Amino acid sequence: MESELNTYALITGGSSGIGKALAMELASRGYDIAIVALPNTGQKEVSQEIKSAYNVNFKSLELNILDQGAISQISAWVVSEQMNLQILINNAGIGYAAEFDSLEGSFISTVIDLNIKATTLLSHAMIPFLKKQRQSYILNLSSAAAFYSMPYKSVYAASKRYVLDFSSALREELSSFNIGVTAVCPAGVITSNEIRERIKAAGYMAKISALEPSQVAKEAVNAMIKRKAKIIPGKMAKLISWTRFIIPPGMQRKIIAKNFRKAI
Ligand SMILES: NC(=O)c1ccc[n+]([C@@H]2O[C@H](COP(=O)([O-])OP(=O)(O)OC[C@H]3O[C@@H](n4cnc5c(N)ncnc54)[C@H](OP(=O)(O)O)[C@@H]3O)[C@@H](O)[C@H]2O)c1
Repeated sequence: MESELNTYALITGGSSGIGKALAMELASRGYDIAIVALPNTGQKEVSQEIKSAYNVNFKSLELNILDQGAISQISAWVVSEQMNLQILINNAGIGYAAEFDSLEGSFISTVIDLNIKATTLLSHAMIPFLKKQRQSYILNLSSAAAFYSMPYKSVYAASKRYVLDFSSALREELSSFNIGVTAVCPAGVITSNEIRERIKAAGYMAKISALEPSQVAKEAVNAMIKRKAKIIPGKMAKLISWTRFIIPPGMQRKIIAKNFRKAI
């Protein structure tokens, strides 16, 4: 039996894409679900889907996690709702494909704040709750982009490298508290039509390694339960990720630049 009675999984950005798939996957395994998502982004639909399919509790908090005081608000919510928090999933994140110097400074800040700062500070705030359980888990959404320097996704790839390194360091620190920390490193995941088009434009390798959110969620949760350090979902994506050990870094950057230039 994987789950304990009435233990919650808290998922940021849980009302759509990979976050929603993770919520459905964990509900199917008997976990109660708490999602934090931007206002009016489908919380009602997720609630209905989960409640009609699974006998679990569901709570949601409409919140922009970048707002001043948002992290404290999430902590207060966990306390006031008396959640036994067993799983934290830092899923909310933002990506793009564009020339660095064409980006607005405010957009660059959002990428860093959401992908790096929110993941770090929410982990920090939730660890005291996770320590109360006999065993618990943190699952952080990194990306296969974390393995490369990525022209045209420079800030995104570097932010996901941070998530990967932060997760593996934290994993070591928290092992004595029986808190597993796993980083998920998906290649393209078809979460919207825009991403479907971006994957198509990025070429053959991107197309053959792309996955549905439900498959990513299943593999990610399996890896989290097994307390793996990281997981690259999908056989093709795993295989392709090995090229980083074979192709020299300079050549990798040129190939990536050529492919992503087509996608912008
Ligand atoms: N899709 C891919 O190809 C891919 C590949 C590798 C890694 N990833 C990573 O996987 C994660 C999920 O990606 P996705 O494609 O499923 O998501 P997405 O459709 O691009 O949407 C981003 C997610 O972040 C949430 N979010 C954005 N800004 C937020 C804010 N200020 N406060 C709270 N939540 C916010 C959104 O929440 P709402 O539900 O409230 O809108 C949404 O769930 C991200 O970290 C992404 O970088 C994605």
